[in-house]
Amino acid sequence: MAALITTPRLIAVGGGALAELPGLMARLGLARPLIVTDPYIARCGILDRATALLDGAGIAWSVFSDTVADPTTEVIETGVARLREADFDSLVAIGGGSSIDTAKGMSVLFRNGGQMRDYKVPAEIPAAGPPVIAIPTTAGTGSEVTRFTVVTDTETDEKMLIAGLACCPSAAIVDYELTLTMPLRLTADTGIDSLTHAIEAYVSRRASPFTDGLAKNAMGLIARNIRAACAEPENRAAREAMMLGATTAGMAFSNASVALVHGMSRPIGAFFHVPHGLSNAMLLPEITAFSAPAALERYADCARAMGVAEEGEGSQAAVARLLDELRRLNQDLAVPSPRVYGIERARYDELLPVMASQALASGSPANNPRVPTSDEIIELYRRVYE
Ligand SMILES: [Fe+2]
Repeated sequence: MAALITTPRLIAVGGGALAELPGLMARLGLARPLIVTDPYIARCGILDRATALLDGAGIAWSVFSDTVADPTTEVIETGVARLREADFDSLVAIGGGSSIDTAKGMSVLFRNGGQMRDYKVPAEIPAAGPPVIAIPTTAGTGSEVTRFTVVTDTETDEKMLIAGLACCPSAAIVDYELTLTMPLRLTADTGIDSLTHAIEAYVSRRASPFTDGLAKNAMGLIARNIRAACAEPENRAAREAMMLGATTAGMAFSNASVALVHGMSRPIGAFFHVPHGLSNAMLLPEITAFSAPAALERYADCARAMGVAEEGEGSQAAVARLLDELRRLNQDLAVPSPRVYGIERARYDELLPVMASQALASGSPANNPRVPTSDEIIELYRRVYE
């Protein structure tokens, strides 16, 4: 069966790539952007650098800087109202996955109308809206190259997965220099998120030879550099490797899908406001242990790609090394359990059936090498709590 591959039309990659913004817009025939960003990026100087480049090229711009962590339907509706105020022809998203996902949601809702929840997986998005140019400042969610956006429904607290060609940015600017000032926690959380993307894309039932290469490349880059990027924020080589790893992992999972870790992670994020990468990290070792017997060879390949097992080592031994490394990584990066994070046991237990049903409804668990029942998901949630 053929694999269908979606990627942006243009990607500028490398230190200083931000300078390509006006040229990239010209190539795409775009001239009236609404910049979508968050208050931090608007303050820290990155937004000013982007707008100076646009000014230099004579491109008129406006800014919507009210995006929030874990974008909500409410913020997207406000953003769409801004889009309607003037004759914008594009969205330039600058920030972490939240700003990029907000811009994607705005584009979809502006063009198609209705409510964001109308486009929740498995619904189709009828038409593509104004093009999005995505400029990530974290390494990262990979959202700059994926055909997904994740939006929290303000009414139900559900983290909805929305997918389709209409969500894939038209262009991306992948400039690791924008990540040099990322704080430790954000570097660790977004780094583990991208490692999870690469592993899940590789073990996914929808993996293909095309995505396998990207996923293994990403695992190698991230596993070998995540500790250095956390310990030495200005280590340019480590930052560049993490950025490349995040984007290639994004390309891999955009076309192979994520699996059980992401399926179970979204409800934890939605109900307890745990940052996305952190809730993935809480789950990754246990879910890997649960899933590995169903795809021993694939998980062993992950260990080899990450450089924690020798090429000639047997699969069982390699998977044991993978589990050790994932647990050690969580320790080194100070990833708390849900209990240590401060999630109340009674509330957690009470929500488990809803969390399990939302996890299954997202479709991600169906891509897992071992597809869990609802009861098994509840049991896994219980196991990671401590
Ligand atoms: Fe993710």
